[in-house]
Order: sequence, then structure tokens, then C-alpha cells
Amino acid sequence: MDRELALEIVRVTEAAALASSQWMGRGLKNEADDAATNAMRSMFDSVNMQGTVVIGEGELDEAPMLYIGEKLGTGNGPEVDIAVDPLEGTNIVAKGYPNAMAIIAVADRGTLLHAPDMYMEKLVVGPEAAGLVRLTDPIEKTIDIVAKMTQKRVRDVTVIIQERPRHNELVERIRQKGARVTFFEDGDVAASIAAAMPRTGIDIFVGTGGAPEGVITAAAIKALGGDMQARLAPMNEEEIERCKKMGIEDTSLVLQLDDLVRGDDAIFAATGVSSGELLEGVRFLGSDLVETDSIVMRAKTGTIRYIKAHHRLNQKPHLAMPEE
Ligand code: FBP
Repeated sequence: MDRELALEIVRVTEAAALASSQWMGRGLKNEADDAATNAMRSMFDSVNMQGTVVIGEGELDEAPMLYIGEKLGTGNGPEVDIAVDPLEGTNIVAKGYPNAMAIIAVADRGTLLHAPDMYMEKLVVGPEAAGLVRLTDPIEKTIDIVAKMTQKRVRDVTVIIQERPRHNELVERIRQKGARVTFFEDGDVAASIAAAMPRTGIDIFVGTGGAPEGVITAAAIKALGGDMQARLAPMNEEEIERCKKMGIEDTSLVLQLDDLVRGDDAIFAATGVSSGELLEGVRFLGSDLVETDSIVMRAKTGTIRYIKAHHRLNQKPHLAMPEE
């Protein structure tokens, strides 16, 4: 993959973040999602690559934009798999909560897991404990390993977990063990990345969230040198069938980081829509000026770039406010 692709991809996440930020706090999650998807789709047309969507907004027969199998890019350049989450945290944007992002992962053709849109169990840790933790271990053992490798007391280990009833038992066990729990409302990509980044104060991400988000997260975890394991969590026969159709015969298998993203040439890019731990959201600075914060990581080199951009609203007529 070309190095330049990393920077080109950021322009696409910026466009999606700018568009969906127009809907922030308006209580309309579908509109926010559509705006991000439309902006992302049209910006992809100018990127030099031969891209195929492997994780997108739905199947071809549902005819969404950015459907699985859709070809993207100018048709020149590297052959790549593309995973998109135009708006990670649709509810967050609708309610004006923190941590919404526009996200893309790009990797060499055939290297991203084709994950169906269903739940997935996930465990993420930082580089210190990479290679030592297992999804199937009791959480108490994982906490002990992370405490030892990060040279922290168990009571100082912080586990981030999505606030959902399905996690109640897990939360109880983490507290019984003596570690700390920090909840997040929505947006498990940002939360997972926080567990693998230095200086966030978060040591472990655990819990069940979206499988597509899991694959996108894996590209970032690779670049950060952290570790991630996952297992699909189909809820019924129909979901098991869907996995088989997508080439996953045994859904009970624990997926390693290399099963989620094979090889090391993967790019993860995100632009903040609303401010969170990882990124600042889109800021309207007045006088036609809008500021965005993005992050782009390349697994091959481990380079992480933070990109702050100023955009002129009058150059972007498609970003008219919803009421205009
Ligand atoms: P959306 O952006 O699709 O709304 O997803 C937000 C999210 O919090 C994901 O980050 C997470 O993986 C998933 O929802 C969890 O699903 P649920 O809301 O069913 O618990």
C-alpha cells in the first residue's frame, strides 16, 4: 500500500465527520448517519486505490451506500479491503454525547475478516500484556496479568466496559477482584483503543459489542502494538448461517489479532465528531472556520499521526446546516 493512502483516507473521515457534526444534538441519529455515509461515499471517488468494501453499511440487496462488495476509488493504485463505520456512535451524535467518530480501516486485499453485523466478544490490552492474555481466561486472571506487566496494583487497574445489562456479571467480578470499572455509553472503537494507548489510564477493554467495529478496531490495535482477541457471538440460527455464508464455519473459535487483520499493512483513520478521550470533535470556530482532529495509524511502521485541519465552510456548500 502507498504511504500516501494514509493521508488520503483522512480526508474521507474528515468529510464524514464534518457532515455528521451538522446533526449533533438534534436527536436524529439516522440523519446524522446518512450525512456521514453520503460524505464518505463521495470523497472516496477521489482516492487513488482499487478498493472493495468488506465491512460497510449493509448488503447489496439492501442497496445502501457503501454496501459490502462495493468498489471504491479511482481504479488506479493499490488493491485494498476497506472497512467503514461512517458514524461510530449514532446515538452519541443525536444526544450530543462525547466519543463519536468517523472511521475507516484499509488493508491489503483479502486481509480483513469479513465480519457479519452481529455481536462479538472482545478483549483488548496494551503492548505490555500483548501475547499474554486470553479471551477465554477468567477476567480475574487477566487483571492479574495486566497488573503485573504494567507494574500496577490490582486496585489501580482500570477496565473500560460498555454500560449494558449484558455486562452486569462481568462488572461485579471486576469489582470483587478489586480493580476499577469505567463505563462508556456507546462507541466501543474509541474505548478499545484507549486500552491499548499509553497514558489514557485505561488498561483493559472487555465486553460484547459490534463485530464490524471489532475488525476496524483490530487495525488500530496492530499499529499500537497492543493485543486483541475476539469471538463472534451469534444470537440465533439465522446469525450462525450468516457467518457460514461469509466463510466463517466455526463461530466458537477465538479470533486472534492476526485473524481479524492478516498481515501488517493496515491503516486506521478516524476523525472526531464529538470530543472524547481519543479525539476532539468538530469545532465551529465562527467566521466560516471549522476545525477537525483526526488520527491516522499505520500498522506497518507503527507511526501515529494526529492531524488538525481548518476547513472553510463557504468552500463546502454540501455542509449547509440542516435547516438551511
Ligand atoms: P452505532 O454507531 O451503530 O450506533 O454503534 C454504537 C455502539 O456503541 C458500538 O460502538 C458498539 O459496538 C455497539 O453499539 C453495541 O451495541 P448495543 O447498542 O446493541 O449494545
